[in-house]
Amino acid sequence: MANQERLRPDQLRSHRYLGPDDLRSFGHRSRQKQAGFSTEDFAGKPVIGILNTWNDLISCHAHFRQRADEVKRGVWQAGGFPVEIPVMGLSETFMKPTSMYYRNFLAMEAEEVLRTYPIDAAVLMSGCDKTTPALLMGALSANVPSIVMPGGPMNRTSWHGEELASGTDVWRFWAERGAGRLSCEAWCDLEDYIAASPGHCMTMGTASTMTAIAEVMGMTLAGASSLPATHSGHSRMASETGRVAVELAWHNCVPSGLMQRAAFENAITTLMALGGSTNAIVHLMAMAGRAGVSLTLEDFDRISQRTPVLANLRPTGKFVMADFFDAGGLCGLLNRIPDLLHLNAPTVQFRTLGEAIADAPVWNDDVIRLRENPVCSTGSLAVLRGNMAPDGCVIKPAAAESQLLQHRGPAVVFRNYPDLKARIDDPALGITKDHVIVLQSAGPLGAPGIPEWGMLPIPKYLLQQGVRDMVRISDARMSGTSYGACVLHVSPESFVGGPLALVETGDIISLDVAGRTLNLEISEQEFAARRARWTAPEPMFTRGYGKLYFDQTTQAHEGCDFRFLHADGSQDAPPSIY
Ligand code: FES
Repeated sequence: MANQERLRPDQLRSHRYLGPDDLRSFGHRSRQKQAGFSTEDFAGKPVIGILNTWNDLISCHAHFRQRADEVKRGVWQAGGFPVEIPVMGLSETFMKPTSMYYRNFLAMEAEEVLRTYPIDAAVLMSGCDKTTPALLMGALSANVPSIVMPGGPMNRTSWHGEELASGTDVWRFWAERGAGRLSCEAWCDLEDYIAASPGHCMTMGTASTMTAIAEVMGMTLAGASSLPATHSGHSRMASETGRVAVELAWHNCVPSGLMQRAAFENAITTLMALGGSTNAIVHLMAMAGRAGVSLTLEDFDRISQRTPVLANLRPTGKFVMADFFDAGGLCGLLNRIPDLLHLNAPTVQFRTLGEAIADAPVWNDDVIRLRENPVCSTGSLAVLRGNMAPDGCVIKPAAAESQLLQHRGPAVVFRNYPDLKARIDDPALGITKDHVIVLQSAGPLGAPGIPEWGMLPIPKYLLQQGVRDMVRISDARMSGTSYGACVLHVSPESFVGGPLALVETGDIISLDVAGRTLNLEISEQEFAARRARWTAPEPMFTRGYGKLYFDQTTQAHEGCDFRFLHADGSQDAPPSIY
């Protein structure tokens, strides 16, 4: 990339809109002047589109209006012309049924915005969980030079003298409340403390995982993903991102040049070394589909088995992202595993990944562990197959109680989420800690949107007995801030007739994480009889986005992207101007 030739101004994509002496270009220039800009502001300059995922309901991005201004400052300094373009903010907290339902929507919006407007390079402002993969998917398909400005994790916070972690501690305190150990007043008081600043969730949840992945894939400035959202360095990073975007435009450094097979393998290695979110598997599969890179679930399992977990971060470990930053951040961590990375992979800074992380220090060996003292020697994530999941499913062994990783027990089955909510605490079900809790209809189509329901609740009466983990199985995802012996992404999902749909209460299920299997202990004949009795549910939507989603979404092991986008979009030329 470093040698890529610098374009002349008349070779910029925006020149076709703003340069020629013709009727259309007159219109484009006159409308820039309507907005108060002069010829000197834009003539012969790269146009940098700043895709801002800010809105009032995405509190993780509360600082993005200021950051957009800081990106613009950098763009102006470097001789570019910044244009800010609001795109859909995927709020993990507020979007229902789940922000994942809209990930492909934002990806399509980003792709088309980049394609239709006179943009020479883009700054992708992301942070809250799905915003990073969605924008990268769109940028890959449009194949316009792009750089991610990661939103950064929120600040440390504490409550009643105890350090808190957004997300992870919500689950923990909710379990305490269920067990009768936390009062209603204390639970309400916790609301004021659990998310105490702008920025995405502060654990190694999906947001931190995906921004780290963007960084290791070469799509951010080195060190950018670890910077806390409110640190003054975050503002400086935003401006530098703007400056680099201008250079990306001049050299036409497109995402498909960076996000190649080596970058995906680096992303998986980083995911494992971070003990990152299981959601990253679905997102990386979708991104690979956009990039035309062949990736399978076995790639994740293979790399997991050779990669130690070195980041001692919650929910797998003990610390939060602010500690990770103080300890040296992602660059420090990557510099502990150079032998596991493709160091020649390019980055947006016109240097290789190896050059970006060379000499990066680590200041705290408890937060970023030494190779000889890992949080977990290997196996952060495991891919299982078996007659319950012929196309695969995943578990995060590092976040589960170890005695449950080999388990055999009777199933207690819930047909859907409302059924689970209505009956899980009913003592008449007689659930014991050895039961396997199974949820159906929680997958990409069945829920819809493969929501983060996978950390299925443990019955209150078991919580009161001190039970904190059980084997739980679903076709749902799990929040990256969650934990437990939860088997997720069972594929194919129950809604389309996957074997999960055929499980009945009382069936014996065997889980063997070391052997990578998940099986239902019933005969082939019984399987066939149940399959013959199974009837496909009615589609949920007949119009609108729901119908598009329903008709086109792939299964979890394929990334849940839309089928018609699951291709090498880089071959689509931007439309000509006429
Ligand atoms: Fe936005 Fe967790 S809610 S990252």
